Amino acid sequence: MLFKKKINADVRELVKTSGLAHVAFIMDGNGRWASSRGLPREAGHRAGAKNFKTVMRYCRDIGIRYVTVYAFSTENWKRPESEVRALMRLLDSEIDVAKEENDVEYLFIGDKTAIESAIRARMDELENMTAARPFRLNIAFNYGGRAEIVHAVNSLVSEGAVSVTEDDISRALYTDGCPDPDIIVRTGAEFRLSNFLMWQSAYSELFFSDKMWPDFSKRDVDRVVEEFSRRKRRFGGL
Ligand code: FPP
Repeated sequence: MLFKKKINADVRELVKTSGLAHVAFIMDGNGRWASSRGLPREAGHRAGAKNFKTVMRYCRDIGIRYVTVYAFSTENWKRPESEVRALMRLLDSEIDVAKEENDVEYLFIGDKTAIESAIRARMDELENMTAARPFRLNIAFNYGGRAEIVHAVNSLVSEGAVSVTEDDISRALYTDGCPDPDIIVRTGAEFRLSNFLMWQSAYSELFFSDKMWPDFSKRDVDRVVEEFSRRKRRFGGL
């Protein structure tokens, strides 16, 4: 217990001194986690949802201010209908759990219009009831990075813009008000961004883990923080 506390205090300090404010997660590997145990893919997503809460709360407790998770991509509609339905059910039940979190501000990033209206109303309600809290969680749901940029540009054009700046686009993205991710973590032994935060990731550090998402632990988050604190960020300068 004492040892655990010490790690936590050290990691909290590292978060502060390294300036780590925003961590984004591509939670990959739920399906393989389930298959390797002879379980249906849906069981992997349930285990993934459980771990998502553990990791999100831990990030909050060690002083990270923003977390973004990739929960459902615009491409995930191509999965079998039963899996898509299971992911929608999970989203719905996560909203109930989320209502009990006291200090988390929830924001869904992505195109909500394709989501069943009853669930969408509950997403809106959750966002409204948790606004302006100290820790922000962005849940990317029906999200695609390129689609987000197109949506941002179209909304600027519809407001009358004839040319746009980088700042204009940043402000028109779903993540407005949130700094770009300092580090993007992908589990599941895949080494790509898969259309996640295409604009915001321009200078993000990348961290790839061989673990399947349900196995990604608090100690793995510590490793991300330790690794981030060692990276030299130059943002194109010297
Ligand atoms: C990728 O693993 C994971 C997903 C497509 C879903 C991620 C969703 C969760 C972790 C649940 C959290 C839910 C909410 C609403 C926050 P995969 O299925 O592609 O795994 P595989 O590559 O092993 O097949």
